[in-house]
Amino acid sequence: MTKRALITGVTGQDGMYLSRLLLSKGYEVYGLVRGQNNPKIPVINEWAPEVKILTGDLLDQSSLLRALNSSKPDEVYNLGAISFVAYSWENAQLTSQVTGLGVLNILEAIRLYAGDDIGKVRFYQASSSEMFGRVQEVPQKETTLLWPRSPYGVAKVFGHYMTINYRESYGMHASSGVLFNHESPLRGPEFVTRKISVAVARIALGLQDQLSLGNLDAKRDWGFAGDYVEAMWRMLQQDEADDYVISTGETYSVRQYLDIAFNHVGIADWEKHVFQDPQFFRPAEVDLLIGDSTKARETLGWKPAVSFEELVTMMVDADMAREKSAQGK
Ligand code: GDD
Repeated sequence: MTKRALITGVTGQDGMYLSRLLLSKGYEVYGLVRGQNNPKIPVINEWAPEVKILTGDLLDQSSLLRALNSSKPDEVYNLGAISFVAYSWENAQLTSQVTGLGVLNILEAIRLYAGDDIGKVRFYQASSSEMFGRVQEVPQKETTLLWPRSPYGVAKVFGHYMTINYRESYGMHASSGVLFNHESPLRGPEFVTRKISVAVARIALGLQDQLSLGNLDAKRDWGFAGDYVEAMWRMLQQDEADDYVISTGETYSVRQYLDIAFNHVGIADWEKHVFQDPQFFRPAEVDLLIGDSTKARETLGWKPAVSFEELVTMMVDADMAREKSAQGK
């Protein structure tokens, strides 16, 4: 029987990779998209034309119920959120509503939809390493105490515990993936890795000279998004729902990312192009983020395939190609 999946946040980086993964496995894929004339609809249509688009909003529970009724999913992946950490200080309430309360809205919609047959829908919640914030141990694992350091992180903690609560209260097959940073050429340009890869390509091509950034010493455990969506799917194939940390177990600074990216295009003295601008510093920064994904590796048989260096060069190459083709037009 053909399995059906509903993805919220289908137009984001992870939604796009996940939709292709599920389609390749023979799933019928439905994507929830927000708003009238959403400009991202043509993007997902081109990326994966087989994805069936439904409109709805994580803040509108009746729209979620309608989406469940029309897609009749075996699996729901909740990837929809306001996901830019820096923005969350300026929009703390909206972030709490969409990124936090939105999780409760979809969980409750699934419970109402499934009725007595709560096991018929499996649920994945996109939790985040941002929940560890002021880290209480290094590396961080599933049992590490959460101490979020941004409104976004606080909202993710709410969604994380609500997912666990629905699993424990109603026996829902609800799993939470605590994903460390994961990047790709599809990453939005507001995130630091893509901001750098776009600028490096443009500087190499003589289209730009300077790049303004915030804290160059911030360190992250950075993986490839294409590897991480595989872990999401594997979680929902387990007999028992559970929570898993997904990470590479390696950590690098923004400065190291810059070094590999610039050297890849033959610019060794890159420091003359990079400036630190106070507007890109955050009111509070998370500490050393580095994940211990032993549980996922042992239980799910998952491990990342793309190394940090491969990730950086993949992103720079993709932006070089994009910039060249834009110039050619
Ligand atoms: N965005 C950005 N822009 N970040 C900068 C800049 C800049 O100009 N300069 C330095 N940084 C530093 C930030 O201070 C942060 O420490 C680090 O680069 C990474 O920032 P982001 O790429 O914006 O990602 P993030 O770590 O805050 O959040 C991402 O990862 C989380 C998982 O831990 C997002 O994808 C979240 O949605 C996700 O949950």
